[in-house]
Amino acid sequence: MSDFGKGDTKWFTHDRFGMFIHWGLYSMPGRHEWIRNREEISNEDYEKYFERFNPDLFDPKAWARAAADAGMKYVVFTTKHHEGFCMFDSKYTDYKSTNTPCGRDLLREVVDAFRAEGLRIGLYHSLIDWHHPHFPIDILHPLRNHPDREKLNKTRDVAKYRQYLHNQTREILTNYGDIDIIWFDFSYPRANDGKGHKDWGSEKLVKLIRSIRPSIMINNRLDLPGAGDMVTPEQNTPDEPVRDEKGNPVVWEGCQTFSGSWGYHRDELTWKSEKQCIDMLINHVSRNGNLLMNVGPTSRGYIDDRAMSRLQAYARWMKYNSRSIYGCGKAPGEFPEPRDSRYTYNPETKRLYLHIMNWPFKHIHLHNLGGKAAYAQFLHDGSEVKMREAEADPQPSLDNATPQKAVTLDLPVVKPDVEVPVVELFLK
Ligand code: GLC
Repeated sequence: MSDFGKGDTKWFTHDRFGMFIHWGLYSMPGRHEWIRNREEISNEDYEKYFERFNPDLFDPKAWARAAADAGMKYVVFTTKHHEGFCMFDSKYTDYKSTNTPCGRDLLREVVDAFRAEGLRIGLYHSLIDWHHPHFPIDILHPLRNHPDREKLNKTRDVAKYRQYLHNQTREILTNYGDIDIIWFDFSYPRANDGKGHKDWGSEKLVKLIRSIRPSIMINNRLDLPGAGDMVTPEQNTPDEPVRDEKGNPVVWEGCQTFSGSWGYHRDELTWKSEKQCIDMLINHVSRNGNLLMNVGPTSRGYIDDRAMSRLQAYARWMKYNSRSIYGCGKAPGEFPEPRDSRYTYNPETKRLYLHIMNWPFKHIHLHNLGGKAAYAQFLHDGSEVKMREAEADPQPSLDNATPQKAVTLDLPVVKPDVEVPVVELFLK
């Protein structure tokens, strides 16, 4: 296997929480970023959006502040999605934001604003391109059912598209300062009519990237085993830490949406509750994962209230509870999670965090913690939570007697006013 180098993942597994931003022309129709595929829209029919793209309320500083307040430590921004439209001033195409009424290099402004808030920068770049004249029409392409498909494909040369992909990759990695993550999307080599590492020139692409920025993290969607710094499950939360084929734990990042669509979707109704969003963050970290939570700004350039209120829910929770997220991961296997709860653990401070997702009545038994915990407190207000060790000679009839080797936490009957309360346990 070739040596593809390794990115720096140390900051990443510490920071745990990032913001994904899907923004492009598809925010105008507002019915999913796959609209060109779903509605089989040709380049010509898609022009009406290009001609009118004008995000007059775009305020990247406000986005960056919302992300920082939510506790997010990095951003991954779409430089180009499958539609092919570039959100930056590329010299290799005219199909870019600077040529629309908008007239701005949106990537530049996003990068500057998020850096100013102290966030690291990741770039999402689509491997797929439904606009480029040399991207061969395949199973996912908007023209897949075009009667002249074969004929049209005769003039398309994937080598030319590949060159474009490599040129633009070099551009976005050299013109916008230090980039920490490059997030490619995606390969589909198994379908008859798909595309994979040969089409993208993945091997050469990785070498190019490492030559520009050796420690950058590259995701795992280039169809190149051994080349990804992180695994990227989407729209589902793994129950257990993600492992490679040999069973070794890997760095992973789940990417998730508030509503099921990545791009702005006006009529989408399946928005997750604030509680679900917070549970999701805890679930990822408790299984050694990062959470990359997506927002899809409107075509006028703001994050709508539905997304904003969920970011604010993160902000409220993270303000007091982020200690159970940053620097934390899965708890040692000897401590089984109590019902309706998730642990995270910080190996440096030796603190164990109990997230109580569903409030119980008065007690929780924590198995195998007998003799191992020195102190317990709520994280949100630093108030002590009383602990009981198992008695040497327990009375079987006593309700809630602490099981052997466990400790029992005495909890207030009324749930504290925190979406998901956290108990911080100082281990001996
Ligand atoms: C998918 C989709 C896409 C989205 C991405 C995020 O692969 O193609 O629209 O950008 O997932 O992970």
